[in-house]
Amino acid sequence: MTQTSLNKASFTGAAVVTGASSGIGAIYADRLARRGHDLVLVARDEARLNALAQRLRAETGVKVDVIRADLSKREDSLKIEALLRDDAGVGALINNAGLSVAGPLTGGDPDRIQTIIDLNITAATRLAIAAATGFAARGQGLIVNVASVLALAPEISNGVYSGSKAFVLNLSQALNIELAGKGVRVQAVLPGATRTEIWERAGLAIDAFPPEMIMEADEMVDAALAGLDAGEPVTIPSLPDLGDWTRLDAARQALRPNLSRNRAADRYKAAETV
Ligand SMILES: NC(=O)c1ccc[n+]([C@@H]2O[C@H](COP(=O)([O-])OP(=O)(O)OC[C@H]3O[C@@H](n4cnc5c(N)ncnc54)[C@H](OP(=O)(O)O)[C@@H]3O)[C@@H](O)[C@H]2O)c1
Repeated sequence: MTQTSLNKASFTGAAVVTGASSGIGAIYADRLARRGHDLVLVARDEARLNALAQRLRAETGVKVDVIRADLSKREDSLKIEALLRDDAGVGALINNAGLSVAGPLTGGDPDRIQTIIDLNITAATRLAIAAATGFAARGQGLIVNVASVLALAPEISNGVYSGSKAFVLNLSQALNIELAGKGVRVQAVLPGATRTEIWERAGLAIDAFPPEMIMEADEMVDAALAGLDAGEPVTIPSLPDLGDWTRLDAARQALRPNLSRNRAADRYKAAETV
């Protein structure tokens, strides 16, 4: 499937792509370069970033810069935050760098789990704040936050990875409202199981899933960009019926009038009435 439209740029300027050294981030870099955007590629593995940058410069003619950064470290995150906030040539953030973790929390390694929170939540939030601030001041921009379908399925993982992605979905939905009317779009992308290195890095075997559950990374990114072009604030590339998502979101919003009241619900007052 190649749904990417090469002439539908939804922002102007360069895109900062985090986690661009492999997987989903590397495909975003490729597709955005082919849409004519200059790029800033961010990850820890500078050699892989340079190899990608060299290929994209040669194939597309766009300008590609590389910044080595460990986004789980505040000092490295600060460099990328400054770029997003202050460089008028930057128009998009693909907030994609992320890590997963296997196994139960009981007996788990809290330091490893902290790293996931540092990258998937803390860095993603700090970068989103910097982009929102810079883009709103400049009156245009795009923030793509790569979440996961596990944001909707806490039963499947141990709660830390899925919780980090639920956080990213929540953050995206709130930011979208905050930035309405400021020329800045926010899209949350919720991939299902996608064939990348994240599985091996987490000690998980993607091939344990039936093949019909696994999407190739290029198809996932092309679908996410088609969702972006269609104006979707939340894109779930696998979901056949978009109505399933809109009904879920509507059901959640229908709770709102009753989520905060001055009296407890009657079922909690049974003891009082007997
Ligand atoms: N693959 C899936 O099934 C799936 C499903 C749902 C959501 N996602 C999400 O998609 C995003 C991309 O993951 P992927 O599947 O493409 O996996 P991947 O191939 O492992 O890519 C992860 C990227 O993040 C970078 N990264 C990891 N730790 C970093 C750090 N401390 N600082 C900076 N960069 C760091 C990695 O580069 P370096 O090692 O060079 O730093 C790499 O470029 C993640 O947010 C992930 O949660 C993936």
